[in-house]
Amino acid sequence: MLVGLLKEPDFETRVALTPEVVKTLIDKGAKVLVETDAGLAASFRNSDYEAVGAEISSRSAVLAAELLVAIQPLATEFFEQLKAGQLLFGMYQPLVNGFRMQKLAEKGVSCISMDAIPRITRAQSMDVLSSQASLAGYQAVLRAAGLLPRLFPMMMTAAGTIAPAKVLVIGAGVAGLQAIATAKRLGAVVEAFDTRPSVKEQVESLGGRFVEVPGAVEDKGAGGYAVEQSAEYKQKQSEELEKRIVAADVVITTALIPGRPAPVLITASMVERMRAGSVIIDMAAAAGGNCELTKNNEICTIHEVQIVGNGNLPAEKPQDASRMYAKNMLNYLMPCLKDGKFTLNFEDEIIKGSVITHGGAVVWGPLNK
Ligand code: NAI
Repeated sequence: MLVGLLKEPDFETRVALTPEVVKTLIDKGAKVLVETDAGLAASFRNSDYEAVGAEISSRSAVLAAELLVAIQPLATEFFEQLKAGQLLFGMYQPLVNGFRMQKLAEKGVSCISMDAIPRITRAQSMDVLSSQASLAGYQAVLRAAGLLPRLFPMMMTAAGTIAPAKVLVIGAGVAGLQAIATAKRLGAVVEAFDTRPSVKEQVESLGGRFVEVPGAVEDKGAGGYAVEQSAEYKQKQSEELEKRIVAADVVITTALIPGRPAPVLITASMVERMRAGSVIIDMAAAAGGNCELTKNNEICTIHEVQIVGNGNLPAEKPQDASRMYAKNMLNYLMPCLKDGKFTLNFEDEIIKGSVITHGGAVVWGPLNK
């Protein structure tokens, strides 16, 4: 089996396979071509890949491999060079990339979108959304700590006592829980809110205080995701959150229901009432933002409040983000590899849920409704 590791576009610093994972693939009988400088932005040198037996090649040579691995979607200008039967891995967000999926189907390429892997227990080791969101939650707090004109921990010094910073995390899923843990480690006082009351225990186990808004609807059948709340609940939530938002030094927002635009939870008038110098890290920026004033991939200062809308926080810690992504990739690939051959078993719900195009057609359920 010939595996091709593609260099990411300029804005992406991560790489889909690390030398360590490449070595495992080679040990299992694969031949691996690495596009020149594919790992450089994540601090993996060409020589690191060569040392484990990979060959450094041009993009055209890599594009001829049977199995192509990347993170960001391959630009359509390269589709010409693809051939029927090739397997293309990446994070394709198929629901917003229907046109690209159609093109790949027409080429006879099998596109496997790692972000579509079902979030079931057995798939946890392959779940790129979770591994990257966890890292992003950590990085969001470091970003906030860097921008805040105050310290995070309480400090008792001869020059007086500095009170600890107050951090509010909205949405206590994968990213939010890691943000809570990181902010606590840095010494902040942390509060968190989520519309799923079942996360209260997890928030508290990390040392955070759970903000209670009674009356939330939680659907245990929603796979750990939130469900839409009544208008009356949203009003109560907004009133309760506003009190916390205006008192916070840092607000980190991660609220999202998959497939929907991000709910607006911080309005312009709330921002106006926040303390000068406070920071909002809006992790849902790419889906429209949890703050009304967020601009995706920009930092803006409005009413002396800094609002960070960075849509790719994992790219700020590319080496470990790549390590996690590469391990997720390896855990997906290994069960499909038998006797040097790669086979997609559509009886397996993980495969069925993540293969978007195959055999000349778009086969992914949500795009075929
Ligand atoms: P997740 O699904 O594990 O967590 C989202 C949480 O938000 C859930 O606990 C859910 O119950 C909660 N939630 C939904 N609606 C809410 C509401 N109205 N009020 C309060 N809580 C609400 O998702 P995950 O993996 O933690 O990702 C969170 C967000 O971070 C997503 O928007 C994701 O796209 C984004 N993300 C951003 C990155 C970046 O670099 N900016 C990197 C990775 C993820």
